[in-house]
Amino acid sequence: MTTVDGDTRVLGIETSCDETAAAVVVGARSVLSSVVSSQVDLHARYGGVVPEIASRAHVELLMPVVAQALVEAGLEDDGIDAVAATVGPGLVGSLLVGVSAAKALALVWDVPFVGVNHLEAHLYASLLDEPDLELPVVVLLVSGGHTLLMAMEGHGRYRLLGGTVDDAAGEAFDKVARHLGLGYPGGPAIDRIAMEGDPTAIAFPRAMLDQGHDFSFSGLKTAVVNHVRKHPEATTPDVAASFQEAVVDVLVAKARHAARQVGAKGMCLGGGVAANSLLRERFLDACVLDGLHACLPTRALCTDNAAMVAAAGWWRLASDGPTPLDAGAEPNLSLPTL
Ligand code: KG4
Ligand code: ZN
Repeated sequence: MTTVDGDTRVLGIETSCDETAAAVVVGARSVLSSVVSSQVDLHARYGGVVPEIASRAHVELLMPVVAQALVEAGLEDDGIDAVAATVGPGLVGSLLVGVSAAKALALVWDVPFVGVNHLEAHLYASLLDEPDLELPVVVLLVSGGHTLLMAMEGHGRYRLLGGTVDDAAGEAFDKVARHLGLGYPGGPAIDRIAMEGDPTAIAFPRAMLDQGHDFSFSGLKTAVVNHVRKHPEATTPDVAASFQEAVVDVLVAKARHAARQVGAKGMCLGGGVAANSLLRERFLDACVLDGLHACLPTRALCTDNAAMVAAAGWWRLASDGPTPLDAGAEPNLSLPTL
């Protein structure tokens, strides 16, 4: 087993979708640098991520981004103890760029390579500042591709409680934003414009609210489209605020219910949608009301970044040791659950 300790410096690399990112994190706690080069402008005119454009951009951007992460961390090449990269889930061409670069750097520097699950990385973004985490905790992971509710019983030990039966929460934000003409990516645009609207203006459905721990957002998206068609006078801020209220209501209610059911000591929020202002506020309020510890990543570490990859890599290196260099990218990787 590779020895890792509080001084182990991990270079993280993230290229699973449209952010090219590198970061240096010490002991899964202290972020020395976190560089994210967003490709949003390249994809915006297509209304979503174009895989071929994304992988080509990663090829161009990755090494400069890694170099910048090392410089900002104040390290030379020989200051890195391990290299972690996202191996999945994600776009295969994009993943391969990061995985290949990480393996090459690990070989050249003669340090371990460790493959990281992108979903686990989102969780570890919320655990960077939690050295004494009391378990179990309930984890709500809400991103563009996933909506998962889990109980974390130990590091790397997750029990799946529920997930989405159709669209992911972030996907619903993106699709509704596109329909409202707010552009891509939709989540931040809805977050902004909702601040000017009335969240009680339209009573959108809260799907599956009392039905276990699964989620459904596709009916809500259709309800928004139908409402806008029937009520052209409805203002975009009111529609955005009412939609956001419905999503957040369901997410927080289900997380609280799950926490009660598993006797959780705390709740962790992760994934791009965790950057949402209303969700953050309601999640924190719920934790205070229910006497639960709240783990929330800083906004910058909610959307895709490499600090979370380095932190998750540190834990995986400690528990499983290095990943063999013949391991490949796994576009459909799921989170290993109990
Ligand atoms: O985790 P992430 O960066 O990428 C994936 O792994 O999918 O999540 C991206 C998703 C997008 O759907 C984006 O619209 C959403 O997170 N998002 C937000 C906000 N910022 C990003 N959704 C709601 N409010 C936000 N402020
Ligand atoms: Zn992500």
